[in-house]
Amino acid sequence: MADDTAGRLRTLWGEGRFGDQLPADALVAFTESLSFDRRLAGDDLTASRAHVRGLARAGVLTNEELDVLLAALDRVGQELADGTFAFAATDEDIHTAVERRVTELVGSVGAKLHTGRSRNDQVATDLRLYTRRELTAMARRVLALQEVLGRRAEEAEDAYLPGYTHMQRAQPVLLAHHLLAHGWALARDVDRLCATVARLDVSPLGAGALAGSSLALDPDGVASDLGFSSRFENSLDAVSDRDFVAEALFDLTLLAVHLSRIGEEIVLWSTEEFGFLQLDDAYATGSSMLPQKKNPDVAELARGKAGRLIGNLTGLLAVLKGLPLAYNRDLQEDKEPLFDGIDQVGRAIEAITGLISTATFDLGRMRVAADTESSAAVDLAEWLVGRGTPFREAHSIVGALVRASVERRVPLAELVEAHPALGTEALVLLEPGTAVARRTTPGGAGPAPVADQLVRFRQRLSVDSARLPD
Ligand code: ARG
Repeated sequence: MADDTAGRLRTLWGEGRFGDQLPADALVAFTESLSFDRRLAGDDLTASRAHVRGLARAGVLTNEELDVLLAALDRVGQELADGTFAFAATDEDIHTAVERRVTELVGSVGAKLHTGRSRNDQVATDLRLYTRRELTAMARRVLALQEVLGRRAEEAEDAYLPGYTHMQRAQPVLLAHHLLAHGWALARDVDRLCATVARLDVSPLGAGALAGSSLALDPDGVASDLGFSSRFENSLDAVSDRDFVAEALFDLTLLAVHLSRIGEEIVLWSTEEFGFLQLDDAYATGSSMLPQKKNPDVAELARGKAGRLIGNLTGLLAVLKGLPLAYNRDLQEDKEPLFDGIDQVGRAIEAITGLISTATFDLGRMRVAADTESSAAVDLAEWLVGRGTPFREAHSIVGALVRASVERRVPLAELVEAHPALGTEALVLLEPGTAVARRTTPGGAGPAPVADQLVRFRQRLSVDSARLPD
């Protein structure tokens, strides 16, 4: 009996509408998704357990049948976990494999597993469960990186370096301020990941192939069984909606872009020309030919992977853009970009976190680079403003002094001292460390606002970590 039923499961469409002929090898090779969707196995079992409990509540399964099916699903889970699960050549995807095995194990009761369900609502459910968990785990990784940035910012105390615009030295900023700038960008990533999780928190199970069912299914009960906040409103939408995958990929891509920008700075800072940062040996790579090299491959790959993520996101959007309602097999193309994005970004964050945590900042070189006379130019202009000169006029007075200093190779201090509107009193502005200390406005780059910022950053981290379930 069990064997017969299993025999009919060579394909999920069996031998009813189809004759004896097996699918062509080329079809199987081209359409299978088992090679990548087996990572949904745990979620598929979770969704199947909720589904059969719903069928029992609906009276479609007896309590004995429910127990038999739950035990079979547990057994499949065990086999998958201990590596004894034998995949068959005809297992097109993970859903087929699980159902085939359940049917082998418990025969005709197994043949009731798929009652009232389609792989269309099943795969959408599995993928939502997976994405919810993985995005939450990703947000936790982002928080760990933010922790490291916060710690390094605290340790940096009042160290400062040049802040740049257009890659030209502009004004000195505290190193802590610079590190926290990346920390706040990452805070938006955490926020976005949480928002995507909140929006995807809808169960599609019970939508069937596209239109619901004639059986007394209980999509609300199944939704709460799976820990979803609600069930779908529209069965067509439920099986064709992949907004959550696109959103997840966008969140991951922007996160990758942030990691890429951090990576770019690490590459620059670790050059001999900048010399602001030395990589720990554990987070640097050598050259196969050049013995002297210590390369920032982690930072470069963080930069490179962002390109790949952008490809994953645009690839998925292109898959979705022309699809009519409801399920179309094109939707199977949602998984690989998502899985790849999660894998790549997860590894990138962990490597960048380790790199930043162990790198050595050369505070001396940063200070020397920041303490050029012209980094106080705007302070000279603001000093004049404080004495009644309109800013535009002050700007041109100081600009002219800087130009003269460069052209005549005279220290700016001499020209400032000799200038009637500035004079000796203004010289204090050119002293090392003065410019950064004068950045006193809220959110600014000097010691007082940065101390306040650090407190606010820490508060944000604890609020965000409370948003993430364990
Ligand atoms: N492997 C398929 C996917 O990932 C599962 C759904 C198949 N549905 C179907 N009607 N053929 O989308």
